[in-house]
Order: sequence, then structure tokens, then C-alpha cells
Amino acid sequence: MKIISIVGARPNFMKIAPFIRAIQKHNKKSDNKIQHILVHTGQHYDVRMSQQFFDELNIPPADIHLEIGSGTHAEQVGKTMIEFEKVVRAEKPDWVIVVGDVNAICAGSIVAKKEHVKLAHIEAGLRSGDITMPEEVNRLVADRLSDLLLTPDRISNANLEKEGVPNEKIKFVGNIMIDTLENEREKAKKLNPSAIIEKNLLTKINTIPQIENDKYAVVTLHRPSNVDNKEILSHIVDFLSDEVAKDIPVIWSIHPRTQKNLIEFGLMEKLSSNPKMILLHPLGYHSMLRLNMHARAVLTDSGGLQEECTVLGTPCLTLRWNTERPITLKEHGGASVLVGNNIERIREEYLKTLTFVRNPVKPELWDGKTAERIVKQIYEYNL
Ligand code: UD1
Repeated sequence: MKIISIVGARPNFMKIAPFIRAIQKHNKKSDNKIQHILVHTGQHYDVRMSQQFFDELNIPPADIHLEIGSGTHAEQVGKTMIEFEKVVRAEKPDWVIVVGDVNAICAGSIVAKKEHVKLAHIEAGLRSGDITMPEEVNRLVADRLSDLLLTPDRISNANLEKEGVPNEKIKFVGNIMIDTLENEREKAKKLNPSAIIEKNLLTKINTIPQIENDKYAVVTLHRPSNVDNKEILSHIVDFLSDEVAKDIPVIWSIHPRTQKNLIEFGLMEKLSSNPKMILLHPLGYHSMLRLNMHARAVLTDSGGLQEECTVLGTPCLTLRWNTERPITLKEHGGASVLVGNNIERIREEYLKTLTFVRNPVKPELWDGKTAERIVKQIYEYNL
């Protein structure tokens, strides 16, 4: 059996690592080997957004690199389709595998089905209900076209059933990103926060503040709805710098899009002149996991971090008005609350974290064995 997986952006890499490991494990046990080809679209190209995850998570180098780079959504999806079609025609795989919700999956899904190749979507069935998010468009395309929809939770199964997806296509396998978390936990635990900071400083600081467990906040922001508008981003910066950093150090791992906008909007000076605002380059997997493990709060608009916070029990203020991952919300037993970008809401929820009690939660099948279940589903599909 020949499988092509297509990845393109940072959140793909932690999801593909366990899948490749599970294929290798299958191949050790079975005479019926699976040949796996990894295609990287090149949407994320900076070392800190891509290669460092390959290195840390032992992902073999991509077999084929499409080098599509940045661009508008149509440019990214269009270029990926043109290049990926050539790969599929040359390799004639039995399956194309897409993971998550980034632009690579939209392009990959369309090409696979137009070339009459079976398609499996890992992380199927997530819905924010917000069609203005490019990720929601990508999810809808992948799920509509997939032969095998591999879901992380039962809420996703219900979403797909509501949309009329036949039951036999939907397989509840659990959350593959938690496979990576479980696999990497011990390595992350050993890291020293001050060393992480020193290694990743974006702007110089004279003395690195003391980082004590449960006495610092972690921030990541990259959604256009938070970082592309000057007024919105300024209010967030003011809150973080004037209120949170007055209380505890704030460690901010800054995405390239956000960095560009902070500079353009003239906000960098305010941030870098506050000694308790620690501005870092995009962090590697282990560093982010280590900081998350002992943060008093994570303020983020990332979907993946909402899930990791749930498993680690870290209070997560999600700077969005909706989420495709309701299972991570407090009302479903998770660690996350939706605070949008309303500062009053953010403040109210932030103040609640002052008295927090860490409460790790394991949703059903978030057990570190999702990738093995996925490989089994794909392998047995036609048996
Ligand atoms: C993409 C994904 C999003 C995911 C996020 C995680 C889609 C639609 N969006 O958004 O779901 O949560 O990645 O990071 O696929 N840039 C660099 N260096 C890089 C990559 C990007 O400087 O290595 C710059 C680009 O030039 C661009 C900006 O960052 O200006 C945004 O990159 P882009 O890939 O368009 O989308 P993300 O916001 O990263």
C-alpha cells in the first residue's frame, strides 16, 4: 500500500509525527508494508516554524518539497494544487492523508479526489460554525471529500452525522496531537524555563526575570481577527503589558505575522521597554510544552494549545468568540474559556486564574494511541 501525506504549516508537524511512527511500527510487524511519502507544501518555511519541529519530533525529512511559500489563500491553495497534482500522478498512491485544517488540506483533498485517490482526513468533524475562518473552509472541503473521516471526539462525529456523512465513513479514533504530547512530555519536563528564554529571545532584555512555577503567563496570538487590526492588537498589548505583566512575567512566543504587525503598528517599543514582557521567537515543541506545564494561564487564539491546556490542566483564555474544539471548554470539562478580544472579559477570566487549581483532564481516547488506531483503519479499509 502506498500513502502520501501532505503537510504545510506548523500545526501539521506535531500531528504527522505519530502517524509516521505508527506506520514504521506497522511495517516492523507486518509483511504487508506501507510505503509512506511525505510531501511538505512549504507554506511555513522559517526554521522556527518548520524544521525545528522535524528535528525535535524526529520526523524524517519530507520526500517532496513543493516550496509554495507565502501568499494569498488562492495563491497558496492554487500553487499547492498544481504542484501536488504532479506528485499524485507520478506516484499513484492508494491513499492521500490530510491532517488538521491548514491550506495544504484543502488543496490536497481536491487533488486526491480529482485523481480518484482515496482520501483520509485526520482531525475530521471539527466545526467552529464560522465560515469567515479560512480553516473552516478547509475543514468543510476535506470532510466533504474524504472516504475516511477520523475524528478526535464524539462531538465531531455528531457534527458529521448532522451534515449527512454516512456513518461507515466516520471513525472515532481520538486526538493525534495528544500522542505527541504523551510521547514528548518527559523530554519537555527536563527543560529549564530560563534557558528556554535565553535561547529564544526576540528582543534583548538586561536581566531575565525569575520564572517560578505557576507564576507566569504564556501568550500566543496569530489569528487575523486579533493581530491584523491595530486597535484590537493595541488593546491586547496594553492589557498584557499594563495589567498582567504588573503581576507576573508574561512570556510571549511571537508568530511571524504578529511580529510584522506589532512593528507596523508601532507597538514593539512599548512591549520591549517593559522588563516583565518576555518576547520570544516562535518556540519549539518541547519549550512550549514545558512552559505550558507550569503556566498560571495561557492566553491564546491557537486551537492546539486549547487541547494541550486541557490535558495539562492549565487555565486557557481563548481569545476567540467561537471554537471548533468545544470539548476543551470548561462546560465540557476542559480548561478553556472563550474571551474573544473584549478586554473586560479577558480581565474577568484572567483574575479568576489567580486562585486556580490545576485540573488535568483526559477526554475519551486522548490516550496517546490515536495514530495506531488511524493506521489500522486505513490498512483494514479494503480488507
Ligand atoms: C497558518 C494556518 C493556521 C495555523 C497557523 C499556525 C491556514 C489557513 N492557516 O496560519 O490554521 O493555525 O498557520 O501557525 O493554513 N510567515 C513567515 N514565516 C513562515 C510562515 C509564515 O514569515 O515560516 C509569514 C507569512 O509570510 C505571512 C504570515 O506569516 O505573512 C502568515 O502566514 P500564513 O502561512 O499565511 O498563515 P498563518 O497565519 O501562519
